[in-house]
Amino acid sequence: MARLLLGVSGGIAAYKALEAARLAVKRGHAVRVIQTPASERFVGRASFQAITGAPVLTSEFEADPARGAYPGEPLSGWVENTPISHLALVERAELYLIAPATANTLAKLAHGQADNLLSAAALAAACPVAVAPAMNNRMYLNPATRANLEVLQQRGITVIPPAEGPLASHGEQGIGRLAEPAELLEACELLLTGVGRPSLAGVRVLITAGGTREPIDSVRFLGNRSSGRMGYALAREAARRGAEVTLIAANVALDPPPGARLIGVQTAAELADACRNELPACDVLLMSAAVADFRPVGAVDRKLKKDEGIPKLELERTEDVLRQVAEHRRADQVIVGFAAEHGEQAVELARGKLERKRLDAIVVNDIARAGIGFESEQNEVTILTGDGQERHVARSRKERVARAVLDEVERLRVAKGGTDGARADTRSPARV
Ligand code: CTP
Repeated sequence: MARLLLGVSGGIAAYKALEAARLAVKRGHAVRVIQTPASERFVGRASFQAITGAPVLTSEFEADPARGAYPGEPLSGWVENTPISHLALVERAELYLIAPATANTLAKLAHGQADNLLSAAALAAACPVAVAPAMNNRMYLNPATRANLEVLQQRGITVIPPAEGPLASHGEQGIGRLAEPAELLEACELLLTGVGRPSLAGVRVLITAGGTREPIDSVRFLGNRSSGRMGYALAREAARRGAEVTLIAANVALDPPPGARLIGVQTAAELADACRNELPACDVLLMSAAVADFRPVGAVDRKLKKDEGIPKLELERTEDVLRQVAEHRRADQVIVGFAAEHGEQAVELARGKLERKRLDAIVVNDIARAGIGFESEQNEVTILTGDGQERHVARSRKERVARAVLDEVERLRVAKGGTDGARADTRSPARV
């Protein structure tokens, strides 16, 4: 349970901040709210006060009846000695979340302006700060906003990315919707180390995500439709559980999950090299990347021209990375493969892969079904394990699927003798 300071700036999405505050209070966090004057046009302070059980601050010239204390805390001496209560609030906060963060607020934060309580508190914050942008898609994609976000990220501020969908401006679609309240809370809890269930504390988890690209020439490639969403959801969940996460990302266009060490690759060969380098230092491998099985022979490092004629593509096999790494594994490592299979035999085919590649588990989805798997935010999978378990995860967001996969990983680690929440003995002899 943590002291969470919530800064609300003026956008239609402010109502979602109200829901995020409600969820945070429900999870036992002590929440105080700072609103910008503009945000009061969207949600009145009485609403936040009712939900958090504490007064809302909007201006440094008004008194704070709670004198800087968080709900559940007695008024203590330090508060008495700290005359400016918004500074007291931010000094005591364990996390400062600014949601929604409008384009204007992001610009102020990037330039260190302190012309309202919200931005002044951000300047004074010593705790982790997270911003959740929400605005019209053109404003979000404008180079000025992109540059402001980049500056903030470089300064260590976490950006909780907005989602795509219908926007508040009538009839408009695009990127800019504030992340859902549950996602805001999840991101906060990830930043609040020690909060929640650090059941993978100290465990080193290696994750591959995305899809490899095999060059034909310097501009063309053979690729696949993997977006990397599943792997990124796994990375977020593993980090939330306290794991040390390394993420090998092949051509993923998503914001990197906070807390993960990122290694970018493009081809199957680069992914294979990165896996080999990282494998000895990992306790768990989650191989969710879609790795090319074939690559063009003799790719040229210039652009092929039309008048050279239609090129004949000859393909050759790439290395089966998972099979290779599984052969060189340590006995205590947990290795999980992913399989995209077509149709009714999906589970049966995946079981064959589980055995052939000598995995601890395989996560299979039926790519014949619409709306799940590749490029989608949702998935429906069956998790098969080497010890004969079969677990079906009904169609749901990839975050939920990630939780189910990591629950299974934790169970397999315990079965192998690696203690839950502690690093397994990495000195045990290799056995496959
Ligand atoms: N995989 C890999 N290297 C490859 C191909 C796949 O490491 N060259 C991994 C994937 O990351 C995934 C698992 O193997 O975790 C299953 O991938 P899939 O392509 O479905 O398996 P294959 O054994 O290649 O089976 P098939 O082509 O017969 O479907």
